[in-house]
Amino acid sequence: MTSETSPSDDRVNGAGSSAEAAVPLHVAFVMDGNGRWATRQGLPRLAGHRAGIAHVERVVGMLKHRGVRYMTLYMFSTENWKRSKEEVDGIFELLADWLTHTGPRLRDSGVSLRHLGRRQPLPAALLAALDRACADCGADDGFVLAMAVNYGGRAEIVDAVKAVLPRAEQGLQVDEAAISNALYTAGMPDPDLLVRPGGEVRLSNFMLWQAAYAELYFSPVLWPDFGEDEIDRALHAYAQRQRRFGGL
Ligand code: FPP
Repeated sequence: MTSETSPSDDRVNGAGSSAEAAVPLHVAFVMDGNGRWATRQGLPRLAGHRAGIAHVERVVGMLKHRGVRYMTLYMFSTENWKRSKEEVDGIFELLADWLTHTGPRLRDSGVSLRHLGRRQPLPAALLAALDRACADCGADDGFVLAMAVNYGGRAEIVDAVKAVLPRAEQGLQVDEAAISNALYTAGMPDPDLLVRPGGEVRLSNFMLWQAAYAELYFSPVLWPDFGEDEIDRALHAYAQRQRRFGGL
């Protein structure tokens, strides 16, 4: 758990029992493979990002249907600014457009949206779209989709330490709970399962703190093609794992 204030769910506290572990409460995904998906079809990379963002709603539906309650999606890292300006601008436009058109429908279907990451230097139009989409999504009693945009695991820990330090000077005890509660993910359970489609076998600065005991699943299938069969394969692999959290 990242927080003492995390929602109550028997599965949150019940690590160890195979029945409780069967369906992960929180699945985190790296949105990887959009560009290669497009290139393989002779399309510009942005066509892959368009296909990738359009795929998100389908994955949310699949996870909801299978009893998952939280999904975090790594959509743009603090390092992705190194890509061409054309690609970065295009990604932000696609994302703002998607938030505007799909955000209300997701919300109507009980999905709360949340942004994880640094706001600056994201463009104002994207921030406004994020704010609109995430507004009025307070009660996390349905399904939560957390969008990691301008997110870096190391930056998040730095930001948390900066938030905790002044309070430490006031006497706050600096322990794991204090750091967890200062992360962007405060109030969310840690991911049980972290899935990276697209063939790479690394975290690339994603959820470095929260993934301490996540089960990892890597697949060569590219994100826009990561459909029902792939989701079920990942969930099946998770259900086979023995989570020990350091115990026996
Ligand atoms: C991490 O690998 C992957 C991500 C942070 C996701 C990147 C996805 C996009 C930029 C497309 C998003 C599109 C929309 C429309 C939101 P990495 O490639 O950053 O790191 P690596 O070089 O270590 O593999």
